[in-house]
Amino acid sequence: MSANSYQVFFGLQRQPFVADLDRNHILETSDLLAAADRLEYAIGIGAIAMVTGEVGSGKSTALRWAAGRLHPSKYRVLWITATSGSILEFYRQLLAELDINTASSSRAVLTRLIKTQIVDLAQGKKVRPVLIVDEASLLRLDVFAELHTITQFEGDSKPWLPVILAGQINLVDNLLYRTAVPLASRIVTRSHFHAVNREAMEDYLNHHLKIAGLKHNPFEATAITAIHQGAGGLFRTANHLARGALIAAASEKSQTVTADHVRLAASEILL
Ligand SMILES: Nc1ncnc2c1ncn2[C@@H]1O[C@H](COP(=O)(O)OP(=O)(O)O)[C@@H](O)[C@H]1O
Ligand SMILES: [Mg+2]
Repeated sequence: MSANSYQVFFGLQRQPFVADLDRNHILETSDLLAAADRLEYAIGIGAIAMVTGEVGSGKSTALRWAAGRLHPSKYRVLWITATSGSILEFYRQLLAELDINTASSSRAVLTRLIKTQIVDLAQGKKVRPVLIVDEASLLRLDVFAELHTITQFEGDSKPWLPVILAGQINLVDNLLYRTAVPLASRIVTRSHFHAVNREAMEDYLNHHLKIAGLKHNPFEATAITAIHQGAGGLFRTANHLARGALIAAASEKSQTVTADHVRLAASEILL
């Protein structure tokens, strides 16, 4: 069987359950809508918003959806996927997002470059920069301690750089450290992405099948239950299980996907 013959078998127009969904194909889940409202509020007042949830619960997708609502004539989104590197590495990522090249590795120089650019955007160009730090739970404690210096303008009186910190739940613990207090004290909202219940998982699977061009749902009710349980209510694992189950069913020339097909798929992935 070729790599996509299951798509032919099920009459799918494109690969189902993909990670790089078009923004207009993103499902507006209740957690996503609730988070987007909170993010907008925090951005509006130039504060910090925190987004937490397990890996694969839909955080990055929701950030992308929310960022897409910010009109480019009014906002400049600076998106950083955090690493466990030093503050210098973080500043370099941010400078790259700001289209600034520098060979300097002086913290003072980099900070000044960033702040000058933020002021220029906010004051000069009347565009509100919005810093999104995805995977912020990976940031080191010393980076958190340092981070507030680039978000403070004129002794904290000018809220020119709203920040969205997204990551796994340990982000909360990291922000509770004494050295992170200057940053944490500016957090005004927190959104949490929950594992979804079976009904929401069914909606989710149907949504993705529809995007992929399927007219009827080949998953038996017990298969959906198996995906929901196997994925622990998390979307990314559900993607793998659902796609794997379609492949398993197609290889048996079965037009219906059963719980056994889901189990077969589960035996091949590391959950
Ligand atoms: N609202 C959504 N609509 C459609 N698919 C989604 C949605 N949220 C998540 N997904 C799917 O689940 C996958 C994992 O979501 P992601 O946002 O990367 O999770 P996280 O950032 O929390 O680890 C995405 O690649 C996408 O396929
Ligand atoms: Mg993510």
